[in-house]
Amino acid sequence: MNNNKNPLALSIVIKDVHIKNRLVKSATQESMTDGQGDITNAYKQYYGRLSSGGVGLIITGHMYVHENGKLPGMAGIEKDERISPLRQVTNYVHQHNSTIFAQVNYANLKKIIEKKSGKKEWLPNTLSKEDIEEIIDCFGKAAARVKKAGFDGIQLHAAHSYLLAQFLSKKVNQRQDKYGGSLSNRQRLCIEVYRAIRESVGEGFPVIVKLDSYSRSFVTVPPLTKTITLREALDTAKKLEKSGVDAIEVTCFLATRGALPYKQKHIDWLKTQGKETRANVVGVLLTPIDLVINHPQWFKPHQNIAHIKAFKKHLHIPILAGSCFRDPVYMKKVITNNEADMICLARPLICDPDFPNAILNGDDSRSKCHNCNLCSLCLPPNERPLHCVYNQQYH
Ligand SMILES: Cc1cc2nc3c(=O)[nH]c(=O)nc-3n(C[C@H](O)[C@H](O)[C@H](O)COP(=O)(O)O)c2cc1C
Repeated sequence: MNNNKNPLALSIVIKDVHIKNRLVKSATQESMTDGQGDITNAYKQYYGRLSSGGVGLIITGHMYVHENGKLPGMAGIEKDERISPLRQVTNYVHQHNSTIFAQVNYANLKKIIEKKSGKKEWLPNTLSKEDIEEIIDCFGKAAARVKKAGFDGIQLHAAHSYLLAQFLSKKVNQRQDKYGGSLSNRQRLCIEVYRAIRESVGEGFPVIVKLDSYSRSFVTVPPLTKTITLREALDTAKKLEKSGVDAIEVTCFLATRGALPYKQKHIDWLKTQGKETRANVVGVLLTPIDLVINHPQWFKPHQNIAHIKAFKKHLHIPILAGSCFRDPVYMKKVITNNEADMICLARPLICDPDFPNAILNGDDSRSKCHNCNLCSLCLPPNERPLHCVYNQQYH
């Protein structure tokens, strides 16, 4: 096939960084560390393997910027000792003629006991002004390390119910000061973190942000309440653009669904606690529920597209379309119709890192990903190296 006719094969420039095609590997936690935030050799090989699969831009799994914002298995970027091992990864990826951005995050999903009230609270409601200043400072310092480690750019994770998304959410963020209340107050932390990053890395370095197009987060009670609306998300994106952000990845936590491997997650967890018998009983008891919720039919392809189009319409910077893209024909249409500038793939590349090369060589077959979400069982508390259960030959 003539690649000139394939819109996904067109290069794109973000800031001054040339990206060879329109396909992005979205951030996926690798769980390839020693448990203390240091990356293992498997991490390096994983990125070498991805870059030889043809993807234009790789975004690493989230890295923690502060010890308190760490999930098990996450890689760390909170201290200078992380720079040298990560430099080996970026060198390796560059040898494969690929581009790699690092994703930075403050990952916290659990309520904590608030000192004064003794109540269980979400983190945004418990942080002092000094704590917030420390977090902003940590993001800035982490960004400097990202640049020193040879990454081509940085992505700030402001989605998926982690700290920055919790601040953005009206339901979660109950602060009474300048970081809570009105929308612009809730956006303040995200923008201040962006500014600290920009100050650290300078004008020439790409800084992009991952934002939810909307969120019906599980972190609220009742669980499916809208915590971030599309209107709010667009407003945040516009303010970030005005502040100097170079591109936005539009994601949606709820639009990432396929199956919910709830039973397996429970069984795995019990096994990690040494409770084999209980794990077997749970396996039997949960089977009827599992047959309903653990079904790939729940997956709706490219279900975030209407929201992505709204971002494209209201912004001038590149829009990276995220969540549930599986069909190359549809992906090409999105680029051709100027509905987004790049297409993000997460689970399809866990399943098959060569999927981009296939697409670029004219193969229009859909991703082999079953949307079973069994790859998510590599996430905490399990901490298994990220892999696809069906296509283990790729790893
Ligand atoms: C196993 C796994 C790990 C993930 N880790 C991250 C992460 O570290 N940072 C992030 O922003 N998103 C993470 N995600 C979400 C993906 O980047 C992506 O937004 C989501 O899976 C939807 O895209 P997809 O339909 O192409 O998989 C993860 C998803 C999976 C399945």
